[in-house]
Amino acid sequence: MEDEERVITAGARMEDGEIENALRPRTMEEYIGQSRVKEQLNIYIEAAKQRDEALDHVLLYGPPGLGKTTLAGIIASSMGANLRITSGPAIDRPADLAAILTNLNDKDVLFIDEIHRLNTSVEEVLYSAMEDFALDIMIGKGPGARSVRIAIAPFTLVGATTKAGALTSPLRDRFGVICRLEMYNFKELQKIVKRSSSILGIDIDDEGSMEMARRSRGTPRIANRLLKRVRDYAQVKADGLITGAIADKGLELLEVDKLGLDMVDRKILTTMIEKFEGGPVGLDTLSASVGEETVTIEDVIEPYLLQLGFIKRTPRGRVAMPKAYKHLGIDMSYKDGDDSQIIIDLKD
Ligand code: ADE
Repeated sequence: MEDEERVITAGARMEDGEIENALRPRTMEEYIGQSRVKEQLNIYIEAAKQRDEALDHVLLYGPPGLGKTTLAGIIASSMGANLRITSGPAIDRPADLAAILTNLNDKDVLFIDEIHRLNTSVEEVLYSAMEDFALDIMIGKGPGARSVRIAIAPFTLVGATTKAGALTSPLRDRFGVICRLEMYNFKELQKIVKRSSSILGIDIDDEGSMEMARRSRGTPRIANRLLKRVRDYAQVKADGLITGAIADKGLELLEVDKLGLDMVDRKILTTMIEKFEGGPVGLDTLSASVGEETVTIEDVIEPYLLQLGFIKRTPRGRVAMPKAYKHLGIDMSYKDGDDSQIIIDLKD
């Protein structure tokens, strides 16, 4: 299944645009969770403002859907600056990046999503831009070519990536602030669901919002997307109020289980257990067996399964953990692949 088609994908889907914009917190106070990151950023922003300087470059990393773009917007507005949004794959040539950089004003925030996907020649332009607020432009070709340095406005680069490890070290080293975003806990997600419900005029009680929170795999983007679907369910099948029972039924209809797993997650786990005796199984082998791309498995599906303690990454591959067997209702003795074993029931 294409990741785009999954209701619980943490990656952005077309429909998310308008709703995410309406629900996006505009200030640090409105932004729920990530308390350590908020505390750090608040201090650095305040200090930069006191010195009347641009904020140091910030790298945000962590799984998709946790609010990196939102934070970039909050940083820009706290600095009283503009936000310019782009992404690594969207910047083809050094000239494209030069055009963006020369258009920035003092203290503006340039947000580059998926910054690990910048190509090398573009990345090299960023080095002097980040360090010296300057661009080195080659004029002419051959023996007469010379390099001219032009100044750009002091700006803040906010880079976002799902994998900090994929960044080259010269790029990583140029970020003064590096923040890891964590998956949200149930209480935080419940607050986000309640806040979104009140903005969208949705009736939801405490049990309803907690049920939504439990099944949103630690990710606000998923919580907000599921909320929209469950609102429809509550409107058609009940009186509009999302209770715990209504949330449960609405999510069951979407095939999102009690922990927020969908059929793709379950397929991955059952494949690991039934075809590979629980692992270790290599990422490429797993990808070929379930028909999902390796990057999707690695960046989107696995972070939550790891968080739940359902799988473990080992040097020899992925291993399914006892909790995964329990959740799927599969007997652990299955792992031995030996039908003839004698299971002694100690209760007798
Ligand atoms: N909507 C999406 N992410 C959010 C967050 N961290 N806080 C509040 N609302 C959100």
